Amino acid sequence: MARKVMQAVQYHGYGGGVAGLKYVEVPVPSPKSDEVLVKVEATALNAVDWKIQKGNIRPFLPRKFPCIPGSDVAGEVVEVGSGVQNFKAGDKVVAMLNWFYGGGLAEFAASSEKLTVKLPPEISASHAAGLNIAGLTALQALTEVAGVKLDGSVNTKNILITAASSGVGHYAVQLAKLGNTHITATCGARNLEFVRNLGADEVIDYKTPEGAALKSPSGRKYDAVIHCATGTPWSTFEPNLSEYGQVIDLSPNASALWTSTVQKLTLSKKKLVPLLGKPKGENLEFLVSLVKEGKLKTVVDSTFPLSNAKDAWAKILDGHATGKIIVEP
Ligand SMILES: NC(=O)c1ccc[n+]([C@@H]2O[C@H](COP(=O)([O-])OP(=O)(O)OC[C@H]3O[C@@H](n4cnc5c(N)ncnc54)[C@H](OP(=O)(O)O)[C@@H]3O)[C@@H](O)[C@H]2O)c1
Repeated sequence: MARKVMQAVQYHGYGGGVAGLKYVEVPVPSPKSDEVLVKVEATALNAVDWKIQKGNIRPFLPRKFPCIPGSDVAGEVVEVGSGVQNFKAGDKVVAMLNWFYGGGLAEFAASSEKLTVKLPPEISASHAAGLNIAGLTALQALTEVAGVKLDGSVNTKNILITAASSGVGHYAVQLAKLGNTHITATCGARNLEFVRNLGADEVIDYKTPEGAALKSPSGRKYDAVIHCATGTPWSTFEPNLSEYGQVIDLSPNASALWTSTVQKLTLSKKKLVPLLGKPKGENLEFLVSLVKEGKLKTVVDSTFPLSNAKDAWAKILDGHATGKIIVEP
């Protein structure tokens, strides 16, 4: 690797929002023995990126300042660590960086071999990058918690997906469809058709009274809710759930954690399940294979050059993206 320095975006402390981001020149990372160095072609942003900057996950994240935010990258391998077995320079890959250290908003990033997956030529970097946090979380929530089988073999489940136009939500709708579930989805009025086209059976505008109440227009009770929106109290979910229905909450607040604890202690049939995504290389490989087969797609909301990453940050902070926001060095 000839390059010693690279362009990147950093922040130096909690808070600060867009103004807290600085365009900097920093050393190109050196891959550890089990890492590959990726020349980044696309980085996908996630709501969790601004939450980390805001300090919502302190004291755990970020591990240290200054911090280069972003964990979801795709690009080309330019160097491999001494212990790397399965990659070589020139391989196109998608990779999820270590959450604790970030590093995505940069020209180069080092990723663990375990969370790096080869990309076939038909999948572009910008369509691959979003699969990391958003795709993996949608897959985990549906298959590992809600028990949906993606071959559609045994599903008769009614699933509600809130914020179905979001990064996580738009993958969740497509995956739940592969699982042959009946999907009710919520989103804003402008995205009703978009979410229906992704595979939802019925779609409700979250700003209407029916949407706010999460009522299925066909009167279904949900076996599982993939809750990608925030701030919905348990009392809104409860009457809409089937006997053993569960709400998989991707952004649990203190009240949700309390509800979940009480439900465990009282052996409640209906459950709120807080979920923290656990990235797995084999799951990322599976998502890549679905994209290759044309069964799953990434919808790109907007693309920004790294030199204009502040506008991408403003957009993710705004919370109104449809699909994924991409930054390209
Ligand atoms: N636990 C985990 O491991 C994990 C992993 C990934 C994400 N998350 C969390 O999951 C949530 C979703 O993340 P994301 O990155 O996918 O978000 P995102 O892409 O930023 O979400 C934006 C979208 O959500 C829609 N939306 C917002 N509030 C809504 C509501 N009440 N009802 C229906 N739609 C609504 C917006 O529609 P409008 O523009 O029409 O308002 C917009 O299309 C975030 O809170 C994130 O932190 C957790």
